[in-house]
Amino acid sequence: MTQTLGLGVIGAGWMGHVHARSAARLRHHFPELPEIRVVAVAEPVATGAKDFARRHNVAHTSADWREVIADPNVDIVSVAAPNSLHRQIALAVAEAGKNLWIEKPVGVNADEARDVAAAVAQAGIVDAVGFNYRNVPAVTKARALIADGAIGPITHARVSLLTDYAAHPGGVLSWRFEREQGGYGILGDLASHGVDLLRYLLGDLRELVADTAIFIPERPVPSGAGSHYATATVTPDTQMGAVENEDYVAAMVRMASDARAFLEAGRTEVGQQNAYVVQVHGQSGLLRWDFRRSDELELSTGVDYASQPTTTVYSGPGDGDYAAFHPGAGIAMSYDDTKVVELANLLRDIADGGTRRATVMDAVRAAEAVQAMIESADSRRWIELP
Ligand code: NAI
Repeated sequence: MTQTLGLGVIGAGWMGHVHARSAARLRHHFPELPEIRVVAVAEPVATGAKDFARRHNVAHTSADWREVIADPNVDIVSVAAPNSLHRQIALAVAEAGKNLWIEKPVGVNADEARDVAAAVAQAGIVDAVGFNYRNVPAVTKARALIADGAIGPITHARVSLLTDYAAHPGGVLSWRFEREQGGYGILGDLASHGVDLLRYLLGDLRELVADTAIFIPERPVPSGAGSHYATATVTPDTQMGAVENEDYVAAMVRMASDARAFLEAGRTEVGQQNAYVVQVHGQSGLLRWDFRRSDELELSTGVDYASQPTTTVYSGPGDGDYAAFHPGAGIAMSYDDTKVVELANLLRDIADGGTRRATVMDAVRAAEAVQAMIESADSRRWIELP
């Protein structure tokens, strides 16, 4: 393939930069794929737009995302704006008939994700969603091992996604803490990744019961634009605003397979930094993955049951897309690498109609689970998923 595709990025924050870097690196790792260049960016904060343009060599910047979608040089639109804008932007991308690379959670609730899924299906465009932990070779390997019965029939699993980006009480009240803009807080932010990992590894969820909490109910109102890592010194004169969405969720789940699962996500966890752990128990073994040691899979297999040892298996060529990054086992993949794979899967699927990538339908399933968690916490009962 020699064609060059144009990528338009909407939102020049953390994810906008990651998407642009992925485009730049795509052919370093996947030379067989088309070249993809960032040709336009939409970002309302002028300094952010300028910085993005300089770093990624982008000629066209705009404060209005509609200009990016209308740009004839844009073939794929990357939606990396706040969650409240996902639906509106994605619907316009579908209407323009351009392919869509959208960040999770795809809107602020399940209805919004469903609207996007319907628009994508009607337009016949190809869509990819940022559930990038699927793309870690060790996770891909874990899925294959489970499917091959390496740890026996699955009995139960634990998925926990604990982090500290909101642990500081002076962490400013960014869009993430508002219901209208940030949706269900940590549920859309990290529990959605947890649901996707559960589904990717073990299949669909059937029903769940959950509890949620807001541990830091008020935060300083920010004086200007800033990321969710910005903090302010709180004094008696500091203007504070209410946190409107969840800091924490814990859910007990029954999978469609009847396996049990426990899913926990939190953003105010002092001492826990991006601690994303998946542990799957089978009748004859165990499998455990920790994002911070992304190329390692702890694995216990055999017929010993009690006292059966657990070993560490390092990812290597042959596991997922590892070979596109490293020639031998034991060299860890980075977060950004998972997004390069995400973009590669989108382009491969555009070329051959494959189903390698996570799609908006996966985001709909995650959003339905998130909504069931909210409903369960409110009503204090088990909720069946649609
Ligand atoms: P961020 O706050 O760093 O960036 C968002 C950017 O969008 C900001 O620069 C903001 O000024 C800009 N923006 C606001 N209104 C806009 C408009 N009308 N048009 C264009 N841009 C606009 O947020 P971050 O962390 O980059 O998150 C963006 C999205 O990516 C969210 O949906 C989030 O859930 C998702 N995300 C996904 C991750 C993953 O692991 N897949 C990790 C982090 C975020």
